[in-house]
Amino acid sequence: MDKAPHLYAVSSLDPSDWQSVRAQGHRMLDDILDYVEHIRERPVWQPIPNDVRAHFGTSAPPNPTDIAAVHDEFMRYILPFATGNTHPGFMGWVHGGGNVPGMLAEMLAAGLNANLGGRDHVPIEVERQIVQWVRQFFGFPETASGLFVTGTSMANLLGVLVARTAALGVGVRRYGVASGQPRITAYTSAAAHGCVAQAMDLSGLGTGSLRVVPTNDLQQINLAALDRAIVADRHAGFTPFLVVGTAGTVDVGAIDDLVGLAHVARRENLWFHVDGAFGALAVLAPDIAPRLAGIECADSIALDFHKWAQVPYDAGFLLVRDGTLHRDTFASPAAYLRRETRGLAAGPSWPCDLGPDLSRGFRALKTWFTFKVHGTDAIGAVISRTCALARYLEHKVIATPKLELLAPVALNIVCFRYRGEDANRLNANIVADLQESGIVAPSTTMIDGHLAIRAAIVNHRTDERDIDSLIDATVAFGDAQLKNCAA
Ligand SMILES: Cc1ncc(COP(=O)(O)O)c(C=O)c1O
Repeated sequence: MDKAPHLYAVSSLDPSDWQSVRAQGHRMLDDILDYVEHIRERPVWQPIPNDVRAHFGTSAPPNPTDIAAVHDEFMRYILPFATGNTHPGFMGWVHGGGNVPGMLAEMLAAGLNANLGGRDHVPIEVERQIVQWVRQFFGFPETASGLFVTGTSMANLLGVLVARTAALGVGVRRYGVASGQPRITAYTSAAAHGCVAQAMDLSGLGTGSLRVVPTNDLQQINLAALDRAIVADRHAGFTPFLVVGTAGTVDVGAIDDLVGLAHVARRENLWFHVDGAFGALAVLAPDIAPRLAGIECADSIALDFHKWAQVPYDAGFLLVRDGTLHRDTFASPAAYLRRETRGLAAGPSWPCDLGPDLSRGFRALKTWFTFKVHGTDAIGAVISRTCALARYLEHKVIATPKLELLAPVALNIVCFRYRGEDANRLNANIVADLQESGIVAPSTTMIDGHLAIRAAIVNHRTDERDIDSLIDATVAFGDAQLKNCAA
């Protein structure tokens, strides 16, 4: 006689003592709220000691550890050594500061553990509501589609893929970008983010098909040079298909002339994609929004909620005017993903039809909480205030003889340096000193061959004190570097 298979005594990973795990959960919540509440009292960042790094070299544990002990490890070895972008003194790259309702929503989303690839459940309705909000932000039609992704690097890639479908037809999905097809070319400015070139690479079109157009003095795409590049390509037998404008360049925050680009795109029959990683959401700031004029004409827009909108990482987003073309670029019917008219598999269109991800987390919930709790006006006000702080920093740099401004301040990014011999090395050292001091954390970039101290003011917690600290510490570390060299 067949025996029933042996069942393990421990059949689930749920706690055996819910009461104590509940108490532990409250402790974890308190600890992380304490961390955010008192973030200003901590160093922005600190170098990782060797013993801390070594702590992460052990193999996967075969046996259980008490959750309280694992949380202690988190508090000791992880929390103090994070990037630091929750801190008001963080000004490096383009990092958002996060926000408490968004953080709490992440916990709720993890508890629901919803998979937003598809099927009929309300978490997908939340994502659809945000798609609707984003359509409204940019004046896009009801037929426009949208999708949460990891970040703008991914959103730009998906945008290029939809543009590729528009140029070559859906057949490109089967046959690839093989010979016999028109040689299609794309255009963007020399100030565009590197992920635009990467999108050309990953889409099989090749970085050689991307024309990098020079910029003007304000780091905006030079429209006359763009026109010349298009004419030259048509003469040489290429088919221009895509222009990528930037709303907020990564180096200096320049906004391309989007009205001008929309006009070129219309005249030349190009797909008009806007990389608005951080700048696009400035449509919510009444004083900045007019400078984004033309964005409403885009065929697609990539943006990040995790930057200026302060949603916790990650929350990138792609908006596409032609939702049908978007779907035609990615939808792949499969028996196991059959759509039904009723039941959990109901609904003709699922988010997995709009991108390569089938399993998708509930990024929409932290975005939904952030917008509902704070409101769009408050997010717009943060954007306006960070730009005002950048102007305050600009004035302080100009008023400090030891410092020099390296680029015009268009939005929230200020590039400057400490004056001195061997300035590139000197300023690289100053930035490392600033970061290691824990006072402020700017990053660097190159402006016309000069290494710049680059302060991107994105965090809603940053205020004048942090700008004053940046100026004072830069001068102090610059003076100390010069003194060391002289000694
Ligand atoms: C203009 C621009 N485009 C694209 C990106 C890449 O975005 P993500 O890091 O979310 O992929 C950035 C990042 O700062 C950016 O500033």
